[in-house]
Amino acid sequence: MKGLRNFWVFAVVFLVTVGILNFVEHTQQSRPDSVQHDIHLQTTSEASGQLVLGRAGGPRKPAKQQHRADLEDERYPFRPIEDVKISVQTGHFFGGDFEGLEPNCTIGKTVINCRYGSSVDPHTADALWYHIPSMGGASSVQKYHPKQLTIAMSMESSEYYPALDNKDFMRVFDIETTYRSCSQVPIFYFDYNPNQLSKIMKPAKPFEEKKTALVYVNSNCGAKSGRSDIMRQVLGLNHPTIPTHSYGNCDRNMEVNGHFDKVELISGYKFCVAMENSITKDYITEKLWQALEAGCVPVYMGPHNIAEFLPDPEAIIDYNKLGSPEALMKELERLASDKAAYEAKLSWKSRRLEQQSADFQAKVVGSAERQPHTRCQLCRVVLKNRYRPQNFTTCLWNETWTRDYHVKA
Ligand SMILES: *[C@@H]1O[C@H](CO)[C@@H](O)[C@H](O)[C@H]1NC(C)=O
Ligand SMILES: *[C@@H]1O[C@H](CO)[C@@H](O)[C@H](O)[C@H]1NC(C)=O
Ligand SMILES: *[C@@H]1O[C@H](CO)[C@@H](O)[C@H](O)[C@H]1NC(C)=O
Repeated sequence: MKGLRNFWVFAVVFLVTVGILNFVEHTQQSRPDSVQHDIHLQTTSEASGQLVLGRAGGPRKPAKQQHRADLEDERYPFRPIEDVKISVQTGHFFGGDFEGLEPNCTIGKTVINCRYGSSVDPHTADALWYHIPSMGGASSVQKYHPKQLTIAMSMESSEYYPALDNKDFMRVFDIETTYRSCSQVPIFYFDYNPNQLSKIMKPAKPFEEKKTALVYVNSNCGAKSGRSDIMRQVLGLNHPTIPTHSYGNCDRNMEVNGHFDKVELISGYKFCVAMENSITKDYITEKLWQALEAGCVPVYMGPHNIAEFLPDPEAIIDYNKLGSPEALMKELERLASDKAAYEAKLSWKSRRLEQQSADFQAKVVGSAERQPHTRCQLCRVVLKNRYRPQNFTTCLWNETWTRDYHVKA
């Protein structure tokens, strides 16, 4: 977990530097479970089934798919030990996570010496690794040998880093590892691994114990998505039965004594605000997952395809569908006065994994392939390519993915 801590320390420094989020908000978000690059669990979907559901056996369909992936790996003539070297070409905020030998990286029965670092010689490296937000939008990417692969990494959105949407910039990369689901190795804020699943499945506080109010914790008041303006209008409505309690820097109306645990705070409310700083397909951050963990019903504003990521499309109040502060407050009023309707929005918490949405189950299967961490999964992709070279393309060239890329909610 040391690497994880380093990640967050560097994440805070980086984000403060570029001014996306201010320090207070980020400290609140610095709970190491929102992004887990370091889950050292050799997970299978059976394991997640047991953990989440507290019962023997697991979801049948995901388990089979995982098995197929294993069989496919066995058809490669890997040696018992394989070396994969990935040369880190840019600065990045992941600290030790992208330096050194990655622990416990295997594929089938083969042990992968999966080595990352800025000291890995780029002339002989299997792949060159670039952190897109550190590149300033101008690429000077040059392969040192024809079999070398190039890797593009980002957890920041394309709205803040338009290079991600620039074909001239992106065409030099073979492999994408970003929040976009079209990545060969996606790196989501919620990794769908057993630890994280058991967190969001925690029961919510009872209806009667939660304040009938909307809780709002936001510190980046100028985000591109316009969330602060929307929330200022909500506050301006002064709703008589559903007040808005703001604890962040934007329109604060509540006392804050030092630091507080955001998840604990919002778990005491019936409704909580979870709005992304920018709206683009697949860009879903820890705000949503913190709300689902806390068991408040999130007023969510994010990408049009949010349902693909949720255990249940009904788990959120989708601001995009309501469209105005007035319509939002009317909906909150309706839910607050109808306990059954309110609880239906949390009913996914008492369902078994195989009863959650098919998309959610597929995400859990995908996560199993990335264990013990995405860095190892990148090494696996690079190693397979050594035996069976592929013509990789990144997201902008994926016709399935780009079909609805620019759909606004
Ligand atoms: C690697 O796996 C071993 C055996 O399962 C475990 O004891 C160890 O903690 C793991 N190391 C890391 C860094 O995860
Ligand atoms: C294209 O993106 C979809 C996700 O939208 C993904 O499932 C698929 O594997 C991608 N195709 C390729 C060739 O990477
Ligand atoms: C990759 O592209 C080359 C040139 O277009 C082609 O000859 C080759 O068959 C392709 N390989 C794969 C695995 O598709």
